[in-house]
Amino acid sequence: MRAIGLHLFCSVKGGVGKSTLSVVAAKLLAKRGKVPVLVDTDMLGSSLADGLALCAPVVAETAAGLLDLEAQPTGQWFSLSETRELRQRRRDWLERNEDNETPFDSAVPPAYLNDALHYLVPDPRHDCSVAALLWKHETKDDVWYLPSSPLQVDAARAAPHAVGAGDDYDWIRRLSWVLDGVLEQKPEITDIVLDLPPGTWGFAHQILLLAGHLSRNNPLPAGYPNWSKRICWLVNPFIVTSRDRNDRIVAIEYFIEVRSALALLPLCNRLSGTPRSLRAEIRRDLPKALQALGIEDLLRVVPELPHSLGRIFTEGNVVVEEEEEIAKALRLDSYRSREGSS
Ligand SMILES: Nc1ncnc2c1ncn2[C@@H]1O[C@H](COP(=O)(O)OP(=O)(O)OP(=O)(O)O)[C@@H](O)[C@H]1O
Ligand SMILES: [Mg+2]
Repeated sequence: MRAIGLHLFCSVKGGVGKSTLSVVAAKLLAKRGKVPVLVDTDMLGSSLADGLALCAPVVAETAAGLLDLEAQPTGQWFSLSETRELRQRRRDWLERNEDNETPFDSAVPPAYLNDALHYLVPDPRHDCSVAALLWKHETKDDVWYLPSSPLQVDAARAAPHAVGAGDDYDWIRRLSWVLDGVLEQKPEITDIVLDLPPGTWGFAHQILLLAGHLSRNNPLPAGYPNWSKRICWLVNPFIVTSRDRNDRIVAIEYFIEVRSALALLPLCNRLSGTPRSLRAEIRRDLPKALQALGIEDLLRVVPELPHSLGRIFTEGNVVVEEEEEIAKALRLDSYRSREGSS
């Protein structure tokens, strides 16, 4: 059975560091010899390609200059400046074609997660060539990236639920097949990191429940990939909070709400005080009955790091100097301990 790490970063509030920690987790996994793919599922937020120096793959095109989503990977990537130019061209192209009834494969480069999601699968055992759509960082970091498009019109095409027009479940099923495609087409992949949209409702909530099923190796309903016989999922799910008490309390409520479905790990990011004082505050916040759960002992912390994590999106990359501390908070050396036990 193939063991795949599945790292998820969710939050109640926006802007608490999900994307930053997702990128850092993927980079540190790669440094540990793993082969991670980072999937940006925040369809309405800014794209990972907005903040990082990512280079788009060269995807074969049809005679009409559209992406050929069934073509094999070309093994080539655009430069960063070519990628930026293409992103602008795609924006212009979609604005011109917004009102048209467009078939599934009608988009122009660069390819995003949106294109894989929007591909209508004629045969669910045969997905598009997801492996051909993976991006790379300009500076080699051995992480595969699958960014989403920042364009609203792209979100409406590929993720109707995100604009209130579709069903979360359909989208999650589709995402599951895209992930299955990556795993099938790139057997070297060992880990998937999911950067989830902010909020603990809708899509983010459903995907966390799916992760709960995967962590118990439950068979999935009909229509989903049949993973229970092929893949042992090592689920490593975080709910990221800020130091802000309002955010923290709601995050802990959510942690308790889903506790029987998924063992989320609360993670306080950008901590400026001591972990000890934060733990004491959390204990005080909780009613007596809930103090028995020992939530504060599960709590992980990442400190305020203005010179590394604080610069990630302004510099387009991040060099993690506090590697040991962050790897420990993100369980990067211990999440595989269940491997082989199922
Ligand atoms: N530990 C840290 N120390 C200092 N700055 C940090 C830290 N973690 C994140 N940041 C900064 O916080 C900002 C917000 O982070 P990020 O974009 O990752 O949050 P997010 O939860 O993904 O936001 P959104 O909900 O909008 O997707 C970024 O500018 C990042 O540089
Ligand atoms: Mg984000």
